Amino acid sequence: MSRPEEDGAPAEHGRSADRLPHPLVRPAPARPTRRISPAELEGLRAGPEPPFLLDVRPAEQRVIGHLPGDRWIPLEELTGRMAEVPRRGPVVVYCHYGGTAHRAAELLQRAGRSEVTVLEGGLDEYARTIDPTIPRYRDPSGGSWVLQQFPNRGTGCLAYLLHDRAGDEAILIDPGLEVGPYLAALRDRRLRLRAIVETHTHADHLSGHAELHARTSAPIWVSHRSPARYPHRELTDGEAIPLGDDELLVGETPGHTRDHLSLRLDGAVFTGDTLLPGSCGRTDLGDGDPERLWESLTARLLTLPDETEVFPAHYGSLHGLPPPLRYSSTIGFERRTNEALLQPTREAFLRYMTEGWPPQPRDFGTIVRANLDR
Ligand SMILES: [Fe+2]
Repeated sequence: MSRPEEDGAPAEHGRSADRLPHPLVRPAPARPTRRISPAELEGLRAGPEPPFLLDVRPAEQRVIGHLPGDRWIPLEELTGRMAEVPRRGPVVVYCHYGGTAHRAAELLQRAGRSEVTVLEGGLDEYARTIDPTIPRYRDPSGGSWVLQQFPNRGTGCLAYLLHDRAGDEAILIDPGLEVGPYLAALRDRRLRLRAIVETHTHADHLSGHAELHARTSAPIWVSHRSPARYPHRELTDGEAIPLGDDELLVGETPGHTRDHLSLRLDGAVFTGDTLLPGSCGRTDLGDGDPERLWESLTARLLTLPDETEVFPAHYGSLHGLPPPLRYSSTIGFERRTNEALLQPTREAFLRYMTEGWPPQPRDFGTIVRANLDR
């Protein structure tokens, strides 16, 4: 996991900060990328200097719909096709929901394009608010379940509320310490919290599971490998938990921590800190192990279909900007663009995961102990 305060952490061991290999811990760019709303984009397009519109999504998303008059350069091809992007004038980059376009914007800025902005909310928000003729993306919660994502601006973490569309039961994944928003969502939707699930023992933030348990009596579910000292139910690999007409499938994905779980539901996977957009959770805090992480990624998560939507436990590389409306990626996009996954060999991956990280946060041991005790 990364922490917001680690973004831009000073270089260690004499390394130059810009040589830090991991996107999550690189220094913030001198000028953070600006976002523009769909309405602002409409104004620009009607003005005297329409922007160069750049779609950086993968092919499987491009076929659904796109903005008229744009240029399509998938992110993984951008470095080789940089000459197609004008050096002068405004460039608006867009993607799926507004998150991954930031990665393209940083590449463009490093290549000397100074007027780069990112379309806030991505094509989905544009279709929702400006042009209803553009098809919306398939919502993986369009089936029997509904998803709500809770970003925490203080910790950079993401929690998820899942519930059965037809019923009144909900499951909460990786709650943060401030439980008010979850309780309000449960109350507003008249839901009963069936379980609180931790994908792993967190070292970067205090969990809200104890408070939620006290307020709702919902049980806490964790991996059978967790050393948790509070009352909990143990989840094991391969377990299937019914949710509406679907099932939440439990898979062990150790590496970031020994007790890490990923949870699959229909066309989505909740990857915790095992797989993050653009990176992977570090393995040097607590009982992590880069060799196990390699196995979890290659033998488990990367065997999922490309179109599987990835919901991580963290958004860490937006340099202080709020997360987009929906922060997610896909297995296919990560397979082709994630720097950790693009390491050419297992040995290179192990080096990537073990060299160049900033020092361990001073308080991580205290946070882990607190999360295990209550
Ligand atoms: Fe973590």
